[in-house]
Amino acid sequence: MTSPEIIFTGAIVADLVAATVPRDLPPGETIFIDHVELAVGGNAAIAAISASRLGAAVHVAGLVGDDTLGEILLSRLQAEGIETSLVQVLEGEKTSKTMALARHGGERTLLHCSGANSRSIADRLLPAILRYDSAAVFSLSGAEIMQAVRDGEALELVRSAKSQGLTTAFDTTYPPRELDYGTFVAELAPHIDFFFTSMGEATLFSESADLLATAQFLQAAGARTVIIKDGPRGALALDGSGQAIYCTTPQVDAIDTTGAGDNFVGAFLAQYAGTGSLAAALKLAVSAGALSVQHLGGQAQYTAEQARDLSDALTIETKSV
Ligand SMILES: Nc1ncnc2c1ncn2[C@@H]1O[C@H](COP(=O)(O)OP(=O)(O)OP(=O)(O)O)[C@@H](O)[C@H]1O
Ligand SMILES: [Mg+2]
Repeated sequence: MTSPEIIFTGAIVADLVAATVPRDLPPGETIFIDHVELAVGGNAAIAAISASRLGAAVHVAGLVGDDTLGEILLSRLQAEGIETSLVQVLEGEKTSKTMALARHGGERTLLHCSGANSRSIADRLLPAILRYDSAAVFSLSGAEIMQAVRDGEALELVRSAKSQGLTTAFDTTYPPRELDYGTFVAELAPHIDFFFTSMGEATLFSESADLLATAQFLQAAGARTVIIKDGPRGALALDGSGQAIYCTTPQVDAIDTTGAGDNFVGAFLAQYAGTGSLAAALKLAVSAGALSVQHLGGQAQYTAEQARDLSDALTIETKSV
């Protein structure tokens, strides 16, 4: 069986990752560090690379500027075997950038400059969605940091993907303060087949700090299957029939947690598209997340074999709720 195509839509960012950055940055001093690396960043681009490495047929849809960083991002995505014809190069606009300061223990501070990602993506994307086979998966992530997308286009995009018969996926990312997050999530949820969030973000729209209660909250809002990421503790998937699957994260030395959640989403969708198994998708997703925190930057550096070996060693716990 050939896997359906997955269209990873949303944030594409050039990440400049600095490590390891001391807690105090006194003004006027030059601080010597071991690494400054340029990596593909942005929730959609990172997830796409992860899914492509794990064997899925992948498209990226989003925006870059007509600058050198935009060219570099496109060529790196293409080198990963990803179709980039739905990435729009905006004339006179700058590619979105993040400076990621990685600190001891994998924690980081992000300095983000929006650029191209704040512009409209719907004009080009809506007609393209109508051309996809209904087996395709439409995934949206990074919407909260993309101004035009969060101010209406996200809803328009998932609605039209759904009415075209595509499977839809959405992952949350930390929202700007001015966003009414409860309303934003409640409007999207009824159109989402696979709703991903992480516990840190979920506490901004759900009152509970419990994984299962948060998943049930999102299902009550209309999402079909909910997947909650919980960093070094693991993850939960709750499907529409009330089956809850827990998977514990393997213990690893985290040096940079940037993009762990995006690698998780890419691996999950690749595995689910290929096998239809929620348990197998959750295990591979947790493995991809755990592998990604062991190197600098979000862009996957692991192989499919490494992810599958780690996944085979994981156990899951299933219960009906
Ligand atoms: N410190 C860690 N050690 C091992 N695995 C980790 C660690 N942090 C994250 N992971 C793995 O990555 C997955 C996703 O991470 P997390 O829950 O932090 O998602 P997220 O908040 O969406 O991440 P992001 O920072 O990319 O937005 C986890 O479920 C886990 O498998
Ligand atoms: Mg995330």
